Formats: sequence, C-alpha cells, structure tokens
Amino acid sequence: MIIALTKGRIEKAALGKMSESGMDVSELTDKAQRGRKLIFSIPKTEYQIIISKPADVLTYVSRGIADIGVVGKDTLDEETDIGGYYEIADLKTGICRFAFAAKVGTSDFFNSYESRVIASKYPNVARKFFQSKGIDAEIVKIEGSVELAPILGLADGIVDIVETGATLKANGLEVVEDISPISTRVIANRAGLKMRKSAIEGFVTKLTGGN
Ligand code: PRP
Repeated sequence: MIIALTKGRIEKAALGKMSESGMDVSELTDKAQRGRKLIFSIPKTEYQIIISKPADVLTYVSRGIADIGVVGKDTLDEETDIGGYYEIADLKTGICRFAFAAKVGTSDFFNSYESRVIASKYPNVARKFFQSKGIDAEIVKIEGSVELAPILGLADGIVDIVETGATLKANGLEVVEDISPISTRVIANRAGLKMRKSAIEGFVTKLTGGN
C-alpha cells in the first residue's frame, strides 16, 4: 500500500504518529539513511511511503497510484480541479486558518464598489471568498512572502494562512475576516477505498491513535 505524505511539517507529524504506533520509520527520520531517496518501505509492514509536494499528493491519490494521502486542508481547498478522492480523517494537527488580511486600519474594505487587487498563494480560495462577498477582485498569484504585496503597493490585501498572527503583525497587517479553518487531513483514492477499506482504515487508526 502506497502512502503519500506532504513534504515538511505534515510529513514530520505523520512520521511521529507512525513511530508512536510501533513502526520503524528510521529510514525516513535519520538524515544519513534517508539521503535523497523519495520512496521508502516500512519494515515488517505492507506500507511504502512517498514524500511529495502538497498538490502532488492529491495527484497521486486521485490517480490511484497512492492509496492514502496526508495533506493540509489548504491544499484540498485550493486544488479543486483534482478529484477522485475522499477525505477520510481529520488529524487535528497543523491547525491554522485561511484569512483575508490588509494593512492595519484599512476600514470599509467591503463597502466600496472599487475593484480590489488581492495577492495570494491560494488564488482559487481568494477568488471564491471575494465571489461569495459579491466583490470585484483581481487576484494576483504570489508564490511566497505574500505579506510583502500590500506593503509594497502591489495589492490592497492578501488571502493567506494565519497561525499565530505573528507574521501579519510584524508586517503591519491585520485580519479583516477569517475565511475557513485548516488542519491536516487524510485522503483516500475513491476506488481504492472500496477495494481496500480495512487496510486503509487500519493505517488511519495508526495515524490517529484510534481517536
Ligand atoms: C505561513 C503563511 C504565513 C505564516 C503565518 O507561511 O504563509 O506567512 O505561515 O504564520 P503565523 O500566523 O504564525 O505568523 P509558512 O511558514 O508556511 O511558509 P511559506 O511562506 O513558505 O508558505
């Protein structure tokens, strides 16, 4: 069974849970052993782990290459063109939220008929939010450090992930409105879930500790 983990924080948390449940994940957690490998077999199990970028986790699961994926809700909300999977568990880790933020003191944001420029690493989430408000917004895709965009005058506001709020604060920005909650989710290929339900559920139980 192939399990796709999102590279970085999500992968580390998932490997921690796998280790707690008794699996030997040392080939992934030990830097020297890991090297530049991208696919790993977990000893004495049928599990093979692949490490991928967030949207690629969805692609592998959606195409049935991976049975299970561990990915942030932010990716699921943004990559709406990729289907073919079910969201089967909320690991309740990696908790943060999508929010719309602007320079401190920007008032009446929603009371103007002017078109707005919004910067985001998540253009689909941003577009959907402004459409739901009936506000005309031009969305500019930014790959990182999106907080710079309003400071430098590229955008009137940003849609981004907020965890502690420290990044916004350090850059003179504030949340205008929360959009939606984010946490780490487990997804499974639709057809795979029908055929390998108990094996998939068995792995999810190991990740959640049965909770
Ligand atoms: C995210 C997000 C913010 C920051 C928010 O970036 O884009 O910049 O975290 O966290 P805070 O509210 O606790 O300050 P991340 O660190 O994931 O890096 P990225 O810019 O590479 O996406």
